[in-house]
Amino acid sequence: MDAVKIGLCGLGTVAGGTLRVLSRNFENISARAGCDIQIVRIGARRDNPDCDTGDIPISRDLMEVATDPEVEILVELIGGTDYAAELVLAGIANGKHIVTANKALIAERGNEIFAAAEAAGVTVAYEAAVAGGIPIIKAVREGLAANSVNWLAGIINGTGNFILTEMKEKGRSFADVLAEAQALGYAEADPTFDVEGIDAAHKLVILASIAFGMPLSFDEVYTEGIGAIETQDVDYAEELGYRIKHLGIARKSPGGIELRVHPTLIPQERLLANVNGVKNAVVVDCDAVGQTLYYGAGAGSEPTASAVLADVIDIARNVRGDQSRRVPYLSYHSHAIADQVILPIEAIQSSYYLRVSVLDRPGVLSAVASILSDAGISIEAIIQKAPRPDEDVVPVIILTNSALEQSLADAVFRLQSLDSVVGAITRIRVENLDD
Ligand SMILES: NC(=O)c1ccc[n+]([C@@H]2O[C@H](COP(=O)([O-])OP(=O)(O)OC[C@H]3O[C@@H](n4cnc5c(N)ncnc54)[C@H](OP(=O)(O)O)[C@@H]3O)[C@@H](O)[C@H]2O)c1
Repeated sequence: MDAVKIGLCGLGTVAGGTLRVLSRNFENISARAGCDIQIVRIGARRDNPDCDTGDIPISRDLMEVATDPEVEILVELIGGTDYAAELVLAGIANGKHIVTANKALIAERGNEIFAAAEAAGVTVAYEAAVAGGIPIIKAVREGLAANSVNWLAGIINGTGNFILTEMKEKGRSFADVLAEAQALGYAEADPTFDVEGIDAAHKLVILASIAFGMPLSFDEVYTEGIGAIETQDVDYAEELGYRIKHLGIARKSPGGIELRVHPTLIPQERLLANVNGVKNAVVVDCDAVGQTLYYGAGAGSEPTASAVLADVIDIARNVRGDQSRRVPYLSYHSHAIADQVILPIEAIQSSYYLRVSVLDRPGVLSAVASILSDAGISIEAIIQKAPRPDEDVVPVIILTNSALEQSLADAVFRLQSLDSVVGAITRIRVENLDD
């Protein structure tokens, strides 16, 4: 059978891995695809000594890949949203199938790209965009296709997880670990996307679109970063039997869909609580199968290439074999659930960890407790430490029972205005992940 012809755009980390894995496993990949996979053109502004391009022709203008009549699948590995969207839309307009690792592109421009792909009858595949090498898109879209998904929760940013792991295991500060993550090349030079949860929000919205059959709604994801977490919060959480993880959570609630990324206390015995370092993991809770867990490398040259090439193989099978079902990602068009409402964060229900720094005076604790009680929030556990010598301020750690976010926000506002409360109150949501 004729080889399927690929145009590869970008010559960075993931492209290098893709070239290496394709070359190393060429025979297996061809056998599984049912035909050879041949890269016929590369689009790159400059050469990269880490990428062995052999005698493949290189275009400095990447649009030449999108218009090359020989190219059947355009693999976009340049990142960013503007030029990447232009490139991908040009490829689609020229009848190319698309494989991309670009979560920002899919999360922010996916609806437009999918509509163009549907009109052109081509596939857009993006397994590598979520959790790197973990085949989570395929698992949710195919392996769990018979289920109704109740919720999913994941550690989907390796840098954030590395920081929280180091804070817990070595008692290091957020700033200190972040500097090391940058030096090790885990975090971007501008780490905002990682630590503020934007990268995780990109991935969450993609997962939710597949799990719940809904359009991509990146702007509606509630996003909170890990920058405010202090080592003492990590320690108090441990004392209470919990661990702090930066989770992306998508949940079907009676009133709509929750989409949120924030630091979260989870019970120490949960598998997710024990996912450490740069590793990623996603738990999916479904009606028929119950909970399943997917764990592995969320980034890296070859792990990500593994997902890119899996998509290429899938499309190759499709192109040379069954011509139907080319656009499975568009399943939401045929479902009533396309109109799902996304819940505002104020409408979610959760337990909360609060760290309130108070002046060591009689009556302060009862004032705090009565504000919570007035808001209908009951206390599950409380820790109050004795003040250090020469210090007048003590931390009070409170674990609440389940409450409405709006009630908690109102109570925190009232607590914050007490004269005896010093500094900002730290509030972290708790998820037991058990139903
Ligand atoms: N690295 C990972 O572990 C990982 C994991 C999952 C997903 N991803 C995603 O995979 C994609 C690629 O990531 P990467 O880590 O391989 O990036 P990278 O190492 O920075 O490589 C990007 C490549 O694209 C080129 N490029 C960027 N903007 C371009 C433009 N406007 N025009 C032409 N060429 C352009 C760069 O060229 P120059 O060298 O000339 O700048 C470079 O060759 C991103 O969407 C990323 O989010 C990466």
